[in-house]
Amino acid sequence: MLHKATRLEKIPPYLFMELRNKINKARAAGIDVISLAIGDPVEPTPKPIIDELCRAAQDPENHRYPTDEEKGMALLRKEVCRWYASRYNAELDPEGECLILIGSKEGCHHFALGMINPGDLVLVTDPGYPGYKPSIWFAGGEPYPVPMAAENNFLPDLRKIPSEIARKAKAFYLNYPNNPTGAVATRPFLKELVEFAKEYDIAVAYDNPYVDIVFDGAEPLSLMSIPGAKDVAVEFNSFSKPFNMTGWRLGMALGNRTIIAAMSQVKSNTDSGVFNAIQYAGIRALRECEPHLEKMLQIYARRRKRVVDTLNACGWKNYRAPKGTFYLWVPTLGGKSSAEFVAELLEKAQVVVAPGSAYGKFGEGYFRISLTVPDDRLDAAMERIRNAFA
Ligand SMILES: Cc1ncc(COP(=O)(O)O)c(C=O)c1O
Repeated sequence: MLHKATRLEKIPPYLFMELRNKINKARAAGIDVISLAIGDPVEPTPKPIIDELCRAAQDPENHRYPTDEEKGMALLRKEVCRWYASRYNAELDPEGECLILIGSKEGCHHFALGMINPGDLVLVTDPGYPGYKPSIWFAGGEPYPVPMAAENNFLPDLRKIPSEIARKAKAFYLNYPNNPTGAVATRPFLKELVEFAKEYDIAVAYDNPYVDIVFDGAEPLSLMSIPGAKDVAVEFNSFSKPFNMTGWRLGMALGNRTIIAAMSQVKSNTDSGVFNAIQYAGIRALRECEPHLEKMLQIYARRRKRVVDTLNACGWKNYRAPKGTFYLWVPTLGGKSSAEFVAELLEKAQVVVAPGSAYGKFGEGYFRISLTVPDDRLDAAMERIRNAFA
């Protein structure tokens, strides 16, 4: 009889796998379910990026192990740092302060293996992206939830973290624009975060794959634009969301040299980097596809308004239109638990949303709507919600 490693015992089933199973089961029963649960853009990757992949894939040079496999192609690192300087006003050295990743998720995981020792306490925002805790557990660390409350615009109140906890903490995972709440960070908050991390010697994993998905004049804000951030932090970014490239698996880490070196050491003993042709496609994205991003922002803003209008028509209160990301974070009606409400919505409207409780105990009583569905499906979902709840 074979047994899985005990380290897997702590890991809950991956949220989206469970949701996918639920949706597939309903669809197999002939129900036309509309899923607003998953954040995966449906519009295609821009053509110049696909063209570049096809071109580079024809070149036998690119069929070999990736160039500079432990840190990513120099040309792409240079382009990423140019993008960071011009778009976020953050100066980074392509040699030593930049690492190419197989997506931001990989970065979050290899950060844990590179920086966390067994028994270390690791701060994570709650609610938070469900990927962080398993990575911490894999490294033998212990997550410590830092609450994010609506009253504080879903920013953690760093002064409320007990000092004995802060002293013990080795690292801190957080992301703004925030999945799941749609909240954005402010410069004063990021400055406070850097000061806090310096005071307690905490390595910050600032996960920023939604940096460019902001509305209502909010600034695309990189932690790397804050003075002193490089002393304590690394930022993860990704091609997934801005360029509709979730399936391509391409991202980057930027910032503190010690963290970058640690992650690079883990990576060179784990994977061999990203297919060169995908890295060339990434260069093309950064050079030519900013207009695509602007177009996507208009699409998400339009969909966001559609959802907000529907929720308002149904009498929903105590929620805010998100300033960032393509998610809406909404309290359930009638004080129901997240699971109860998600089940009710599926039953009454055949619409699936993500239960807030899956993002941590402070997510209980909320649910998350994603705007990454075709317009006609979103319209149909809103119509059904209106019919069921207005
Ligand atoms: C906060 C956050 N981090 C990381 C990821 C994973 O991004 P990537 O596709 O770059 O691995 C996601 C995806 O939804 C996310 O929401």
